Parts: sequence; C-alpha cells; structure tokens
Amino acid sequence: MKTAFITGITGQDGAYLAKLLLEKGYEVHGGVRRISQPETVRLELLGIADQVTLHEFDLTEQNNIFRTIQAVEMDEFYNLAAQSFVGASWDLPVYTADADAMGVVRILDTLRTLRPEARFYQASTSEMFGLVQEVPQKETTRLYPRSPYGVAKVYGHYITMNYRESFGLHASSGILFNHESPLRGKEFVTRKITLGLAQLARGGDAPVELGNMDARRDWGFAGDYVEGMWRMLQQDDADDYVLATGVTTTIRDFFTFAAEELGMDLEWTGEAEGETATDRKTGKLVMKVNPKFYRPAEVDLLIGDASKARTQLGWEPKVDIRSLASMMAKSDFDALG
Ligand code: NAP
Ligand code: GDD
Repeated sequence: MKTAFITGITGQDGAYLAKLLLEKGYEVHGGVRRISQPETVRLELLGIADQVTLHEFDLTEQNNIFRTIQAVEMDEFYNLAAQSFVGASWDLPVYTADADAMGVVRILDTLRTLRPEARFYQASTSEMFGLVQEVPQKETTRLYPRSPYGVAKVYGHYITMNYRESFGLHASSGILFNHESPLRGKEFVTRKITLGLAQLARGGDAPVELGNMDARRDWGFAGDYVEGMWRMLQQDDADDYVLATGVTTTIRDFFTFAAEELGMDLEWTGEAEGETATDRKTGKLVMKVNPKFYRPAEVDLLIGDASKARTQLGWEPKVDIRSLASMMAKSDFDALG
C-alpha cells in the first residue's frame, strides 16, 4: 500500500484527489491549516472524511512543514494548497507570494533533506500564461503572468523544475487549465453563476452580479484533472504537463448553458457595464454587470493544448463544457431544495 500526502486536502482538488487515491488503495494523509473551525465539508460530501488522516499544516510555516514531512512516511506528495483566488491576490500580494511561491520551496527543500525518494506534484496553473504569447498554450509557451497569484505560481513552477534538475527529485508540475465541479469555491465565476442561478430558479430575485463577461476560459471537470495529477507521478521520469480540454468558452456562454439547464430562456441586452440578462419566461433580471468585479489586469483568453499529456500519460478529459455547466447548476438547484 502506498502512502500519499495532500496539502490543500480540504479544497476542491484535494477532496477529489483523496477520493481517487483511496479508491486506488492508498493510505491518504492531508494537511489542514489551523482555523477556529476546520472546514471538511468537501471530504464529507464525498463520504471520505473518516478515511483520511489530517495533520496541522501551513505553507507559511517552515518548522511545521519539516515536522509533518518527518512524521508521515509518504511515497507521494501532492502540493495543492494555495491562496488560489486570483482576484484576492491583488489585496494579499505578500501573503500570496509567501504561500504560493515560498511555500513550494519550503516543501521541496524539506523533501530533499528528509525524503528525497518521495515523488512530488506541484499545482501549477494556466494563469502563468496570462497575456498569452501563443494560442493554444502548451508546456513550452512563454509565461507572462498577469496577477500576483500568477507571478507567485511561476516561481513555484520554476523552483519545481530546478529541484528536479539540481537534486534529481522526482518533481513534476501540472500546468492545469481551469477545472470546476459542484465542490468549486463559491467565489469562482462558474460556481458563483450556478449558485446564483439556482437561487433565482428557487424563487429568489437577486440577479447574479458579474465582472468581465468577455473573458474566455478552457474549463474542464476537476474529477478528470486529479486523475492526470496521479498519472504524472506514476511516470518513470518527472516532467511538466498541460491538462486542458482545448475548448474555450466565454463567461457569457457558460452563464447561458447553466441557465438553460434550469429552464431559463435568456434575453441579453446592453454592452460592457450596461450588459444585462433577463429570463423571458419570468421577466426576472438574472444578470447585471458590476464593475466591482473587474480585475486590475485580466487574462482574456485561455485555451490549452494537452497533446503531451494525451500521448505520454494517456490522459483525456471526459466532461465537456455543457455537461459541466449542467452538472453544477443541477447540483446547486438540488441542494437548495
Ligand atoms: P481551493 O479549493 O481554493 O483549495 C485550496 C486549498 O489550499 C484549501 O484546502 C485551503 O485550505 C488550502 N490552503 C490555503 N492556504 C493555505 C496555507 N497557507 N497553508 C495550508 N493550506 C492552505 O483550490 P483548488 O481549486 O482545489 O486548487 C488546488 C490547487 O491547484 C491550488 O494550488 C490552485 O492554485 C491550483 N490550480 C487550480 C486550478 C483550478 O481551476 N481549480 C487550476 C490550476 C491550478 P482552507 O480549506 O483552509 O481554505
Ligand atoms: N471570480 C469571478 N467573479 N470572476 C469573474 C466574475 C466574477 O464575478 N465576473 C467575471 N469574471 C471573470 C474573471 O475576470 C476571470 O477572467 C474569469 O471570470 C475566471 O475567474 P475565476 O473563476 O475567478 O477563475 P480564474 O481563471 O481567475 O482562476 C482560476 O483558474 C486558474 C487557472 O487558470 C483559479 O482556480 C486559479 O486558482 C487557477 O490557477
């Protein structure tokens, strides 16, 4: 039986990955940062809260990382913990760098000292492509981050490569494009949309307030992406891989797909800050733009080329964008019932 340690096990990806590894027969340990009331709701929703061992773990605390890695005899270490909300990274740039950049080197340097044989996964991101220099984006595309989060993740990405090349660690980096699910945090745009629409469909009347409707994302299902993470660590040699669907969709189209799942028929009017959507069936205003949600710098177009993962890992995303929007809208609608 292999043992895995997952940082960020209480997050969206951490919960799905823990479930996958348990199904594969792993003993699963995870890191949880100290807060007044530990939030294990995703592990509970997946029915695995009592099958994982949790340890107090914080990316910003070197001694805590050292003691955790000393205590758990792990074969695989998945670093999924991060300050992961791009929008917040302009308000918390120093903390974001401490957690998302320095946190990675704290872990790598401890692994190098205590467990050089353990395999390491770093949660890199398409946000590193930012102002895209090539379409679609692949492993060799030049990075041009557009947020303090993206900048911090670029450091995490390069230090992972550097420890692989300098010390021979089996350290891989997954450059993952956006992946969503019913367990997605409520501040991310897909979940904000499906939850807001579900509340409207249940009789509410507060429109969903959004920012940039023209941004495009390559959205996949988180359950598919954690399978790719695991496959990376099963390779003989560590490497970097893009995971993406290769399909890009505007925020507006995602909104429409989710609304259709809930039986709405949208009429779009206006542009930019004046854009709105109304449900023809009920006459309710369901979306209005609020400039408060614009970002100081934007990533307008993300579309990934996952050919390398397809060829070398045999990885394929299984859920398309319409199915994803339907799955999330239905889940939120059912939960509110
Ligand atoms: P998430 O739902 O926001 O989960 C983040 C996790 O990190 C949570 O468990 C959180 O704990 C934990 N965390 C935050 N700060 C921490 C700290 N200082 N010390 C220890 N733990 C801390 O994010 P996700 O969507 O699962 O994403 C997982 C990883 O993949 C992240 O690194 C993210 O940046 C990266 N990524 C995500 C996507 C995507 O589309 N989802 C795409 C590319 C890369 P709490 O529960 O206490 O908040
Ligand atoms: N969150 C949010 N809220 N985003 C909005 C809104 C809104 O009200 N209105 C429009 N958007 C636009 C944002 O401006 C952005 O262009 C896009 O929707 C997606 O925003 P998020 O869902 O917050 O995701 P993200 O792409 O910034 O970041 C996610 O994906 C990255 C991978 O590219 C996060 O999961 C990151 O951790 C991850 O690295």
